[in-house]
Amino acid sequence: MNEDNILNGKKVAQSVKDRVKIQVDKLKEKGVNPQLTVVLVGKDPASQVYVRMKGKACEKLGILSNTILLDKNASEDELLSLIHKLNNDVNVHGILVQLPLPKQINDQKVIEYINPQKDVDCFHPHNVGLLVNGSPYVLPCTPAGVVEILKYYKIDTEGKHVVIVGRSNIVGKPAANLLMQKNRFANATVTVAHSRTKDLPSITKQADILIAAIGMPQFIKKDMVKADCTVIDVGTNRIDADNEKGYRLVGDVDFDNVQPFVEKITPVPGGVGPMTIAMLMQNTVTVAARQNGLEPEGV
Ligand code: GUN
Repeated sequence: MNEDNILNGKKVAQSVKDRVKIQVDKLKEKGVNPQLTVVLVGKDPASQVYVRMKGKACEKLGILSNTILLDKNASEDELLSLIHKLNNDVNVHGILVQLPLPKQINDQKVIEYINPQKDVDCFHPHNVGLLVNGSPYVLPCTPAGVVEILKYYKIDTEGKHVVIVGRSNIVGKPAANLLMQKNRFANATVTVAHSRTKDLPSITKQADILIAAIGMPQFIKKDMVKADCTVIDVGTNRIDADNEKGYRLVGDVDFDNVQPFVEKITPVPGGVGPMTIAMLMQNTVTVAARQNGLEPEGV
């Protein structure tokens, strides 16, 4: 199988982390010790894996990290009072509350309670507004990771038709905002399709760059894309498998059939996933610099 068209997210993520490490060292020389606090409510297995990976990435780059685990039955008030404490702790630069939250807690209320200056996800409405206006405080991690992959592999977005399948607040909407910016690494014509879109294949087939972010395993088939398309697969879905774990990870794209057909494609795992964490590291350093009146290098 020819694998020359596979975009290696691990490699791109490493190049971002190498850059971030230099920024961490420079901040430390100025007496700033970047610190990220991650809050996880409950024991969702996938969230536990992500949170552990975030902690490990911090450790490797010399970023202080703290993970706070709350019981799955924790009340909204309990979480809000924890956030209040973190908001007021000058040693905590970044706060990330892992989503999804249990159903007794309102995600949006929690997001809005985080001090926007410490919002490393770019989820707070204030930061979403700044992004939409073209003057972002930080960039949304997963969409920014997608842009980094395109940059690294010199895949131009200017004037291209980018079709995003999925309209979530975490990926679809911010990716559309980022890629339509008046900016050398954006300037795309963006279409956002979703579960209610009529005749989806007629739209996805127009994509020069297709971003799949719908959370449905292997949903994008070969007959939904054109041959010169670059496919970016944001999905990470667990499907049953006959192995030790009992599952394997697949994306939103039917990789085995689409990969040989298209121009370029990201794999799952090893594509966009590692980028999200690398960009989170970048954002932690960016907010630490900003909170100390220093010019950030990563936005
Ligand atoms: N859950 C899935 N992806 C994310 C993310 O990027 N940030 C947070 N906070 N929760 C998530």
